[in-house]
Amino acid sequence: MTNIDRIEKLAAEQNLPDEDLYALLTSLTEKEEELLYARARAVRERHYDKAVYLRGLIEFSNYCRNDCYYCGIRAAASGVSRYRLSADEILACCNQGYALGFRTFVLQSGEDLTYSCTDICHLVSAIKEAHPDCAVTLSIGEKTREEYEAYFDAGADRYLLREETADPVHYVKLHPPALSGENRKRCLYDLKEIGYQVGAGFMVGSPGQTAENIIADLRFLQSLTPHMIGIGPFIHAGGTPFAHEPDGTLTDTLHLLGILRLLFPRCLLPATTALGTIDPRGREKGILAGANVVMPNLSPRGVRDKYLLYDGKICTGDEAAECRNCMEMRIASTGYQVVVSRGDYCQG
Ligand code: 5AD
Ligand code: FES
Repeated sequence: MTNIDRIEKLAAEQNLPDEDLYALLTSLTEKEEELLYARARAVRERHYDKAVYLRGLIEFSNYCRNDCYYCGIRAAASGVSRYRLSADEILACCNQGYALGFRTFVLQSGEDLTYSCTDICHLVSAIKEAHPDCAVTLSIGEKTREEYEAYFDAGADRYLLREETADPVHYVKLHPPALSGENRKRCLYDLKEIGYQVGAGFMVGSPGQTAENIIADLRFLQSLTPHMIGIGPFIHAGGTPFAHEPDGTLTDTLHLLGILRLLFPRCLLPATTALGTIDPRGREKGILAGANVVMPNLSPRGVRDKYLLYDGKICTGDEAAECRNCMEMRIASTGYQVVVSRGDYCQG
């Protein structure tokens, strides 16, 4: 079978045996990748037409108790100026975002235990009360099932938690012994069962990652069937054990976006900030490879340059309104269109 046949089979059947996925992940020519992207665009347009959904990202604390080897805000990272936003400051970001047309707010932070379960619940319910037509997404790490249930009961709609890598051996290369890939997967299954729209995902080109590891992630995602899949290139971060590791590539990330779109036709697939960081038109290229979500930054300007998961992050000097307008123009340049809506998963 040729790669052309593999792409057609993947588009027709939404699946492929491991050896064919392996071939697509390791040996796509430019002509073949064009076909992959064309098939991916056709599938995303069948379910989502030309719509690109906006999520307003509020990075509300860069304190973290964990020490993931890749992450620029890990507990042990030196030279990070730490901050946390108050509930009032977070609400003000949402209000500003609402006026700009955002209908989803993603509250993301390091694992900062200063916010209790009750604090998070109060925050979620205050946002839902102020903006009942909006979705609230949490991205605050590994918690107990009871905590996830409490946030859900307070009104949280969605939860983002990347598995980072589904392979237990690779997981250990990226994380200190205190963390376990098994617990992370447990969290994801709990979130799904509770009723959240769930986002999982992984970094592309993280240190030690092999094509086999990526296939393990694709199989894990097929078993979890999340509503959203976030992938972006690994980018080195100063002050971490991986400060001198090579970055993931644009090409590998775009290939995976195309493959993910064909494996998961209806999934919400963001063109991430990391993709926009390794290439000035990375997010646009992501949209053209099958992505249908972008997550502009709504964090207050004063803290943006402190939430640096990796070096060179874009948009750290911009205001929310600037990112919103910039994104509108960028997406329009691809022939797709930013829409003002919650952008829920399409059940069909
Ligand atoms: N490069 C790229 N992505 C990173 N993340 C964390 N550190 C890095 C890095 N150095 C990603 C992780 C995490 C998400 C919030 O950001 O996948 O889940
Ligand atoms: Fe932030 Fe372009 S998206 S400035």
